[in-house]
Amino acid sequence: MRAGCGVEDVSDRAPIAVALDTGDLATATRWALAVGPHVSTLKVGLELFCAEGPGAVEKIRAAADADLFLDLKLHDIPATVSGAARSVSMLAPDYLTVHAGGGAAMIEAAAEALPSTRITAVTILTSLSAADLDQIGIAGPPEQAVVRLAEIAVGAGARAVVCSPQEVTMVRGAVGPDITLITPGVRPAAAGHDDQARVATPERAIADGADVVVIGRPITGAADPGEAAAAIAASLPGRAR
Ligand code: C5P
Repeated sequence: MRAGCGVEDVSDRAPIAVALDTGDLATATRWALAVGPHVSTLKVGLELFCAEGPGAVEKIRAAADADLFLDLKLHDIPATVSGAARSVSMLAPDYLTVHAGGGAAMIEAAAEALPSTRITAVTILTSLSAADLDQIGIAGPPEQAVVRLAEIAVGAGARAVVCSPQEVTMVRGAVGPDITLITPGVRPAAAGHDDQARVATPERAIADGADVVVIGRPITGAADPGEAAAAIAASLPGRAR
C-alpha cells in the first residue's frame, strides 16, 4: 500500500477497485481522476494494457494516488510467467493477477519474481455459470473448484485470491484471515448484471468477508463516475486490508 500525499492514506478510502476497462488512455485517466479520491484501488486490465502499454499505468498512477491492481491474468509456463512478472516489476503493482489454473509452479514463479507484490490468484471467472463450467469439463458446483484453486494458489505463495461474492465465505474458511479476498461480479442493487453470472451487492460481498470489491461498469458507465464511486463508497463500512 502506498502512503497518501499527506492528505489521506489510501487505506482510509472505501475498499473498492475500480476497473478502468477501456482501451483509451484519456478516458481511463479521466475516470482515475474522478474516482481516485473515493476508492482504495485502481485496476488496470488487459484492454488498457494491451492498447497503451506500461506507460499508461505510470500515467494512471500520476493521475490518482491509489493502490495499483494490475489485472493481466497471466497463465503460461512458469518461466514465461516469471519473465512477464519481472517485466512489470518497474510498475511495482500492489496486486498482479495470475490464473490459479496455471498450477502451483507457475504461481510460485510469479511470487518469487515479484516478492513485494501481492500475487493474486484468479480462481474461476465470475462470468462463468455452472453450465459454462460443465461445458469446459469442470464438473460439480463452482464453489468446489474455486476453493480447490484458492488452496493451491495460497499454498504456492499467492497473497490474494479473486473469487465471486457467492464463494467468498467458503474461500475465507479455506485460506484463513491473512489472505486478501477480492470479489468482482459486484453490482449495486439497482444495476443490471452485464455479462456477470455470479453476482452480489457490494455491501453483501464485504459482509461475507471480501476485503476489496472490484466494480467496473456500474461506476465507469455512469453519467458521473466520481459521484457513482462516492455513492457506492458511502454504502460500505470498513477499509481496505
Ligand atoms: O464491469 P464489471 O464490474 O463487470 O468489471 C469487472 C472487472 O473484474 C473486469 O475488469 C473483469 O476483467 C474483472 N474480473 C472479473 N472476474 C474475475 C476476475 C476479474 O470480472 N474472476
